[in-house]
Amino acid sequence: MITLTDVTKHYEGATTPAVENLSLTIEEGTITVLVGPSGCGKTTTLKMINRLIEPTSGDITVGGNSVIDRPPHELRREIGYVIQHIGLFPHKTIRKNIATVPHLLGWDAARIAERVDELIELVDLDEEMLDRYPHELSGGQRQRVGVARALAADPPVMLMDEPFGAVDPIVRGKLQDELLDLQRRVKKTIVLVTHDVDEAVKLGDKVAILNIGGVLEQYDSPEVILGSPANDFVRSFLGTDRGLKRLGLFPIETLQLDTGPFVGVGATTAVARSVAQSHNSEWIGVLAEDDTLLGWSPVDSLAVDGVVTEAAERFLSWVDCNDSLRDALEVIISSHTRIAAVLDGGTFKGIVTLDQIYAEIMT
Ligand SMILES: Nc1ncnc2c1ncn2[C@@H]1O[C@H](COP(=O)(O)OP(=O)(O)OP(=O)(O)O)[C@@H](O)[C@H]1O
Ligand SMILES: [Mg+2]
Repeated sequence: MITLTDVTKHYEGATTPAVENLSLTIEEGTITVLVGPSGCGKTTTLKMINRLIEPTSGDITVGGNSVIDRPPHELRREIGYVIQHIGLFPHKTIRKNIATVPHLLGWDAARIAERVDELIELVDLDEEMLDRYPHELSGGQRQRVGVARALAADPPVMLMDEPFGAVDPIVRGKLQDELLDLQRRVKKTIVLVTHDVDEAVKLGDKVAILNIGGVLEQYDSPEVILGSPANDFVRSFLGTDRGLKRLGLFPIETLQLDTGPFVGVGATTAVARSVAQSHNSEWIGVLAEDDTLLGWSPVDSLAVDGVVTEAAERFLSWVDCNDSLRDALEVIISSHTRIAAVLDGGTFKGIVTLDQIYAEIMT
């Protein structure tokens, strides 16, 4: 969808190029993240794709055509752009900000109004915000307006320069989830710039790690980059918790779950004791008839000869099947059970053990 071939940008008067001989292929319908230290040429690279900056040499194509031959207004229709530091027009209302590109394209008022309403809903903002000015919104809300503005003319390509840089980690996490959710629905080709490794591995189908001068150190899926960093630069850029970050990429769903020491209500205490024993466990988990997890009981507390009718304690050591192995590890090391029960909704699916997580790390 987008290719960069031997692209160099040498700003006038600079001693070294900001980007030198960068080649990159970006696949259609995916999120590609450019990540690297400040000043490594991320913004420069992004702006060359929509010709806000002219490359000194090399070629860039979007949808098979070289951008060099294309009039900028045509590119603007095809490529949405979220500017670093948001960059909303301060003297225009939110409505006018979002309508920027449709307005430039000469859409009629009714069509613009309809599109703005659609977008404000898409990015989960309130309609009453449309007539406010950017300074009357919070940082996170402004960033969503920036995303809505970039999506306005429904461009197949989106360039996003640190779109969530200005907000706290909790709002950032939420905006990232929204972007992933949006992407599942609208399937754009997105090139996103960040200097945050966690954001890169969370959002990227592919991650390009850049060094000063736009040097491409590694370009691959987050799994491969975290599992086998190409060199010392990449290794140190990823940080010391590389293994944990990688665990964060694997959903628990992918594991073959163990059954664990669990019985249904109505099982005899003799069966419960033998199930617990076969799992080397001092407790027994109790499931309802529909496999809802009711809780657990200490094996010691079971009647000698009877039936399991209820659970003595709530089961706190559990994860959702959509959570990651990193979440499971966190639950396991903060509990006494040494396992985490896996639930789908409230339904018991099995257990994850430390050994299973360890085996996954080793592959
Ligand atoms: N208009 C310009 N004229 C001269 N040099 C520039 C210009 N714009 C950027 N540079 C230089 O080019 C290099 C790359 O800048 P760029 O903005 O692409 O970095 P970046 O990776 O986006 O950094 P950051 O993470 O801080 O946003 C830097 O050394 C910067 O000083
Ligand atoms: Mg930048």
